[in-house]
Amino acid sequence: MVNERLLRLDEKYINQSWQPTSDDYRAIAPKEDEMNYTFNYSRMVDGKIALITGASDGMGFKMAEVYAQHGAKVIMIARRAAKLEAAAQKIRDRFDYAEVCTFPMDVTDTEKIKELFAWIKEKFGRLDILVNNAGAGDPYIAETPPDEDVDWYIDLNLKAPVRFTREALKIMLPQNYGHIVNISSINGTRPLCGAVYSGAKGGLNNWTKAVAIRCVGTNINCNVVGPGFTVTPLALGQEDNNYGLDKDPNAKPKTVDYLPILHKKSVRNVPTFCVDQAHLALFLGSDLARCITGQIVNCDNGQYL
Ligand SMILES: NC(=O)c1ccc[n+]([C@@H]2O[C@H](COP(=O)([O-])OP(=O)(O)OC[C@H]3O[C@@H](n4cnc5c(N)ncnc54)[C@H](OP(=O)(O)O)[C@@H]3O)[C@@H](O)[C@H]2O)c1
Repeated sequence: MVNERLLRLDEKYINQSWQPTSDDYRAIAPKEDEMNYTFNYSRMVDGKIALITGASDGMGFKMAEVYAQHGAKVIMIARRAAKLEAAAQKIRDRFDYAEVCTFPMDVTDTEKIKELFAWIKEKFGRLDILVNNAGAGDPYIAETPPDEDVDWYIDLNLKAPVRFTREALKIMLPQNYGHIVNISSINGTRPLCGAVYSGAKGGLNNWTKAVAIRCVGTNINCNVVGPGFTVTPLALGQEDNNYGLDKDPNAKPKTVDYLPILHKKSVRNVPTFCVDQAHLALFLGSDLARCITGQIVNCDNGQYL
């Protein structure tokens, strides 16, 4: 309600012939009961439709779990269907009220993106939260990445979230409501390892701001979670799932192989955990964060201070 009034103020302001007076600001100020609206802190995203990419493992899985725990209807995305369904079942087993469903796909598949959003419109009729989480780091320094891998890492880390956001906005703008959370990396602002990855995540940070600016005056916000080194199966080298599934998993170093470099470049050798990233993504995807937009919020346990 408050933002609808702001929108009206904004429209007047854009006319430029009009300058807001203190009375105008008084008119849009929330009434006490509006400020005091009841927020359900144990169901922070109750009844919301949330789409989370890269949700079968690592921090994306934890995000799907905390969103479901907090009452959202969660659409989980990853490439491997059986693993994804097993992850969804784990959430249902943990919370008997959890409403989770799966849509197996590669986020870089542009035709599938169209199919996904048509399905969301038909099945749910709305989309409240988008978490662009699927992503992966590369092992390159600037002069080394082959063409094929330049494309692969930029497609996954930048182009996919751009396309997902564009399609989500086609639903969120008409409904005048939405939260978009982009999972970037500390490398997006401090490019320490993975040259193409760092470039793509830096692009994702700026894309986030562009989206936020577009959405000023609406009830839609867009922010970045910037994880530092986080303990995930991938990062520990337990599973090499961060490369094209059709490629030789031994063709590139695993994240675990560049941990020594990471730790040398960070100030403190303290990891974060999936649940820490998930809690931040939950906050930014909830109405508690309605006045936060275009921000890059790093969660790195002070590793890179
Ligand atoms: N872990 C860290 O230390 C760290 C630090 C900074 C930023 N990040 C960022 O955090 C995000 C999550 O990282 P993570 O470590 O949790 O990753 P992860 O453990 O490798 O999990 C990746 C998830 O994404 C899915 N996925 C991978 N490629 C996909 C694709 N093309 N299409 C659809 N789904 C795909 C995987 O399932 P399938 O393989 O079955 O598709 C899996 O569910 C990424 O954006 C990453 O860049 C991670």
